[in-house]
Amino acid sequence: MNEPHIHPTSSSLARAAADLFVRLCDRALATQGRFVVALAGGSTPREAYQLLATEEYASEIDWSYVYIFWGDERCVPADHAESNHHMAREALLNHIPIPVSNIYRIPGELAPQQAADAYEHTLRDFFKRRVGSTRARFDLVLLGLGADAHTASLFPGSPAVHERTRWAMAVAHPQTGQARITLTPPALNAGATVAFLVSGEDKAAAVKRVLTEPPQPDVLPAQIIQPEHGQLLWLLDNAAASQLEVKCVDFAVPEAR
Ligand code: 6PG
Repeated sequence: MNEPHIHPTSSSLARAAADLFVRLCDRALATQGRFVVALAGGSTPREAYQLLATEEYASEIDWSYVYIFWGDERCVPADHAESNHHMAREALLNHIPIPVSNIYRIPGELAPQQAADAYEHTLRDFFKRRVGSTRARFDLVLLGLGADAHTASLFPGSPAVHERTRWAMAVAHPQTGQARITLTPPALNAGATVAFLVSGEDKAAAVKRVLTEPPQPDVLPAQIIQPEHGQLLWLLDNAAASQLEVKCVDFAVPEAR
């Protein structure tokens, strides 16, 4: 894994994430004529999505060849305030000329197992038909990190952390019990670039544990994210990196492979 990329503030982190998105998109469109991305949920990526929606960034991308998926979703209606799809729509998708048919929402309004089965089918069909792959070859997977070291909806102690076959699973939030659909390690680790975006002091302990402690994914689920052939990037702000020994401040956007 590359050294974490540490940025002074959440805003410079968001800009680095947007720059990475554009750089990888340029590379993917030039080499394969499409860019397939799995968006992260939660609140951290919102500012990066909003940046991508600005003229400065949106004009750099031919959105007709960009295909949008999600790493997880809450089992709520598509326009619910807690929906990851809703957040991405408000921050990005409603403001760019992306074909509706390029947006593959997790149907969180369905019964959880039905939603997981449906998304599993959608994913496998897309990658087989569009990419000619039996693997979930996302060009970019964006992920957040919870203070309990969960990522996507892979929570501590969840069987989904050790899933090796399915690409999408129905799970429950350990505290709230909220039903969620999450991509599993086989789907997330097949990505060509898997990038964590982590901001804030409240994540510093989880960042340190995930990056420095021996593998214990039942306790630190984010440790299960180890791309098979792709690159793993950690984009942090100073606050999220505050418990790491490394103090370098790296403004460079990680080189795309
Ligand atoms: C979700 C995300 C989840 C999120 C982390 C961090 O649906 O909430 O998939 O994994 O990325 O919990 O959330 P924040 O960015 O809001 O801190």
